[in-house]
Amino acid sequence: MEVYAIKLLNKLDELTSQNLLSSIDEKKRERLLKFVFWQDMHRSLFADLLVRKIIIDTFNLANEEIYFSINEFGKPSCEFLHDFHFNVSHSGDWIVCAIDKDPVGIDIEKISTIDIDVSKNFFSESEHNDILLSNDPFDCFFALWSLKESYIKFIGKGLSHPLNSFSMKLLNNKICIESYNQVLENIYFKQYFIDEGYKMAVCSLNPNIPEKLFTYTIKDVINTFIVPGIL
Ligand SMILES: CC(C)(COP(=O)(O)OP(=O)(O)OC[C@H]1O[C@@H](n2cnc3c(N)ncnc32)[C@H](O)[C@@H]1OP(=O)(O)O)[C@@H](O)C(=O)NCCC(=O)NCCS
Repeated sequence: MEVYAIKLLNKLDELTSQNLLSSIDEKKRERLLKFVFWQDMHRSLFADLLVRKIIIDTFNLANEEIYFSINEFGKPSCEFLHDFHFNVSHSGDWIVCAIDKDPVGIDIEKISTIDIDVSKNFFSESEHNDILLSNDPFDCFFALWSLKESYIKFIGKGLSHPLNSFSMKLLNNKICIESYNQVLENIYFKQYFIDEGYKMAVCSLNPNIPEKLFTYTIKDVINTFIVPGIL
């Protein structure tokens, strides 16, 4: 398994943006062009391009040979590649991606000040209590949120799988998931510190979730799709 990250701080110039948009599927391009804020468009664009770059570099394919399918809950996959699974997430300045030979889920959240009481609606009773008792309720809320989202993205159901139907537990120093009073076996989690003010987690069938992230620059990604000097 590998985990990748890109930090995105600046808006692309119009020409680069148009060129990169022409490197993704038409349907996704149409969706991205509807975003009101450039940050939302850029995050989703670079998440798509990051997966494409990884596939291009790993399998020596041309971008035109890559296409994504989505399941009924919107999880993208690359069905034409055997033993290749990926998942992406984006928030604030960061875009992250996990790849593995088995299904994987990843989530990054920028910590913000929210009404902590909403955790009653999304989290189990024990998690809600953990948040209320914590020294830093916002930190605890987003740590739990990213772990839980990494799980619902791992199973591919997204938020159609109720977040309060399972609980995150720490058993013998290992992050576990409990559903209907049963600890689910063979599901592994890892939390990453990527940046001040962010929470990030990966969920996997693979116990060997790497310690380190590979970081690409925006330029690394752009150069995969636009030959330097042609713009
Ligand atoms: C998946 C979901 C939890 C992501 O929430 P989020 O925190 O806003 O977004 P993240 O940045 O963590 O992840 C977004 C990425 O997750 C992936 N994704 C989308 N649906 C997914 C799913 N069901 N499972 C796993 N990953 C999914 C996509 O690659 C998406 O990238 P994009 O928005 O750039 O296309 C949420 O969007 C959801 O529940 N979607 C399902 C909605 C649904 O049931 N739709 C059915 C009709 S398609």
